[in-house]
Amino acid sequence: MTIHKVGVIGAGLMGSGIAQTCAQSGYETIVREINQPLLDKGIKRIHDAWDTMVSKGKLTSEQVAANRARLHETLNLEDFADCDLVIEVILENMEEKIRLFTALDHLLKPGAFILSNTSSLNVTQMGAVTKRADKVCGLHFFNPAPVMKLVEIVKTISTSEETIAEIQQFAKSLGKTPVLAKDTAGFIVNFLLIPYLIAAIRMLENGMASRDDIDTAMKLGCGYPMGPFTLLDYVGLDTTLWAAEAIYEEYKDPLYAPPPLLRRMVLSGMTGRKSGRGFYEY
Ligand code: 3HC
Repeated sequence: MTIHKVGVIGAGLMGSGIAQTCAQSGYETIVREINQPLLDKGIKRIHDAWDTMVSKGKLTSEQVAANRARLHETLNLEDFADCDLVIEVILENMEEKIRLFTALDHLLKPGAFILSNTSSLNVTQMGAVTKRADKVCGLHFFNPAPVMKLVEIVKTISTSEETIAEIQQFAKSLGKTPVLAKDTAGFIVNFLLIPYLIAAIRMLENGMASRDDIDTAMKLGCGYPMGPFTLLDYVGLDTTLWAAEAIYEEYKDPLYAPPPLLRRMVLSGMTGRKSGRGFYEY
């Protein structure tokens, strides 16, 4: 099957970045949100990113005009009926995802693929509510989606080899390097990244070093682009908490148990850069 039109459900930070990536890679792209203000915010984020790329000489005005013409917006799921591939980028809530996968399965043409950008939830469970579990897999992008080169393709026990081959091609056409992971909580990156981020929070809780010194140590000592607290704020403390909980739930390994400070910060609305306050203030 040839992929012409891509649907992206969710225009938050990741959804808008994924929609931007698809549209600027030449795909007709339709993006949906649940209300107009959220949709406007997501579309503005994409337009602003393209304007910045023009000012840096990375895109021409003509290329941006073509990108904008390929990017469509909607509040209605019905507008996804002619999509060849749909990427779900909604909140990390399994009930919501299952409702969405059921609706998409009824709506989409039989050959269309349904992908989830979940960072740690069970993709097998999402595919199981459809009649096309062989065409369901995870496609996990990294923040910022237009910049980070990696995508994890998550193969469930029902995903067919043909689907994996198609999605590998699709990922490459977006300029990404795909890696293949089994559908186990955390996949590859979060299975390794979450314990590191959690350990940094525990160090701070235990007074072993200051926030700034821990960030500086990992930046300059290991050559990481951001220290753990800058990265936590960038990724979102809520996203980190959900990922930690999902992996802990699967393995019951204390390495993944969310530290009390992380949970309390999320409960207080300190979710990082997006809320204006996390480990740093913005
Ligand atoms: N569209 C297009 N280009 C963009 C962009 C966007 N939306 N956002 C940023 N860029 C470009 C910038 O324009 C800039 O381009 P230039 O080099 O040509 O000037 C380039 O990306 C780098 O951006 P900045 O100059 O603003 O900043 P930095 O050089 O400090 O890089 C960073 C920023 C790429 C975010 C870098 O700090 C980094 O790699 N940080 C680590 C990010 C990371 O680890 N992400 C993964 C998190 S884990 C995750 O997402 C999984 C989840 O499930 C938890």
